[in-house]
Amino acid sequence: MSDETPTQVNPETMDVRTALKRGIAELRDANVPSYTLATELLLLHVLGRDRAWLYAHPEDILPGLDAHRFLSLILRRAAGEPTQYITGTQEFWGLELEVTPDVLIPRPETEHVIEVALDRLALREIRAGRKQTLTGDGLNVIDIGTGSGCIAIALAKELPSAHITATDISPAALVVAKRNAARHGVRDRIAFLEMNLTGGMAGKYHLIVSNPPYIGRNEKDTLMREVRDHEPELALYGGEEGYEIYADLISRAARNVLPGGLLVLELGHNSLPAVQPLLESPHWTKVSVTNDLAGIPRVIAAERA
Ligand SMILES: C[S@@+](CC[C@H](N)C(=O)[O-])C[C@H]1O[C@@H](n2cnc3c(N)ncnc32)[C@H](O)[C@@H]1O
Repeated sequence: MSDETPTQVNPETMDVRTALKRGIAELRDANVPSYTLATELLLLHVLGRDRAWLYAHPEDILPGLDAHRFLSLILRRAAGEPTQYITGTQEFWGLELEVTPDVLIPRPETEHVIEVALDRLALREIRAGRKQTLTGDGLNVIDIGTGSGCIAIALAKELPSAHITATDISPAALVVAKRNAARHGVRDRIAFLEMNLTGGMAGKYHLIVSNPPYIGRNEKDTLMREVRDHEPELALYGGEEGYEIYADLISRAARNVLPGGLLVLELGHNSLPAVQPLLESPHWTKVSVTNDLAGIPRVIAAERA
């Protein structure tokens, strides 16, 4: 793909190659990160095709109103709207999820929460001398702050016999999460509850997972416009510093997890120093910290003593 900016073209006769060039040029000029990928995704979305088709048909004229639709999506992306909110989807743990501006766009780092949860559950089984095929039989799991439902749904797929509860303070997020659960055939396996963290629940869980809001309001000006201006504030900010929500979350977890049960939390890029001491208490043991691919401490896990 050449870097030259195409001259003004007639949308009625725009071919695939020209559409890609024009989109790339506009998004590059608007300082959109990964502008080539974003252009491809928006064109694929409009055409309902896959990437192989796109590059096999560079001279095909975009049919009907598709060129106009594509150019209007490019304008929205250039103005800062995230690609995923425009296309309405994001992949997580190999599952295509619906995303709307009511939910955080699931991030790849959050897949480490699933990995750590499954690894720690498997270790517990091995230590207890039980069979190592982990189906989640008899396990009660809760995902606090479920958003799109990504963690709860991934765990429901991985642990087909587990009972799963998912909470969120946002009723609008829960609507999306329920649709995602239905889309992946696990709606009847997940109880979705609107509440502040765990509300007044006295539930006893074998596994508590959460990716809580952990950005500090004092960091707001440093965020990318895509995040700051488009993702839900409820999903972003954990307090002025960001880590404030963890204290409440961890003390509720201590009341709601069974002895020997697990707590697995995603961490913000600078949350570890504030969060680790909260787990250095007689309530918790076997604390582990897992880095993400960028080397940032991303997941903290502990067992109820
Ligand atoms: C960082 S997002 C995580 C969403 C999803 N679990 C993910 O990993 O993509 C945090 C979620 O917690 C919810 N939330 C914020 N404060 C909450 C609270 N006090 N109780 C329950 N949920 C809360 C937000 O609405 C949002 O959906």
